[in-house]
Amino acid sequence: MLDLTGKNALVTGIANNRSIAWGIAQQLHAAGADLGITYLPDDRGRMEGKVRDLTAPLNPSLFLPCNVQDDQQVAATFEAIQQKWGRLDILIHCLAFANRDDLTGDFSNTSRQGFQTALDISAYSLLQLANGAKALMSEGGSIVTLTYLGGVRVVPNYNVMGIAKAALEMNVRYLAAELGPQQIRVNGISAGPIRTLASSAVGGILDMIHHVEEAAPLRRTVTQTEVGNAAAFLSSDLASGVTGQILYVDSGYEVMGM
Ligand SMILES: NC(=O)c1ccc[n+]([C@@H]2O[C@H](COP(=O)([O-])OP(=O)(O)OC[C@H]3O[C@@H](n4cnc5c(N)ncnc54)[C@H](O)[C@@H]3O)[C@@H](O)[C@H]2O)c1
Repeated sequence: MLDLTGKNALVTGIANNRSIAWGIAQQLHAAGADLGITYLPDDRGRMEGKVRDLTAPLNPSLFLPCNVQDDQQVAATFEAIQQKWGRLDILIHCLAFANRDDLTGDFSNTSRQGFQTALDISAYSLLQLANGAKALMSEGGSIVTLTYLGGVRVVPNYNVMGIAKAALEMNVRYLAAELGPQQIRVNGISAGPIRTLASSAVGGILDMIHHVEEAAPLRRTVTQTEVGNAAAFLSSDLASGVTGQILYVDSGYEVMGM
């Protein structure tokens, strides 16, 4: 049985009720996990209020600002976990960013700054959070990140984010190798296209969704809940022998040749 009772889980990347991280947080909560939620702070505190209201029904034990480009905020997040729980079991890395201009048009036009930003926020951040988490995963643990097919195949307009996802997927393997002896498992979920704030920045996302609805074996896209269920599975003892893997939750689209 999938049971996360007694597990402490940090969930990053909730922006609104369409966020994949929101689907994951709900499924971890339903399985009994105690949640810590982080949000990306903005100057006017709007994101904080929105995410706080959305997640209140899940009674998170921790609710913290965490911009992964701010080392002090990241350190403060793990300090708060240490003080509140003393131990972390599950880390959900569910965030990414690239400049909107870099998610349409010619890939070769990507600026140095755009490339660095996308790689920093979308890929380096997994190392950064894993590094903070490993000291607190004293009884082993599970780290799950979110990736997309555009990291292994060319998908129109995904551009620099594809490079970031390729780096992210390799991070999964290197981290799995490093952290395995501590019984910390590291896996990725490659989700099919879902309409969210982040995906709306990718040029032609609706066409991608319609294409999946026509071509994927299940003839539909996946939901945040389905991704959340897979994340709960990977975070649970049911997946105790699984690490370093990318699990496709994409209605089977990845297996199709044409
Ligand atoms: N939506 C899709 O079609 C799809 C498919 C496969 C994978 N993914 C991946 O799923 C993850 C979540 O994206 P989503 O689609 O739910 O969109 P989303 O916009 O709901 O979530 C993206 C999150 O990243 C956060 N973020 C951006 N910059 C940050 C920073 N500097 N520090 C901390 N957080 C930051 C945002 O606040 C937001 O909560 C991303 O890694 C995305 O690439 C999405």
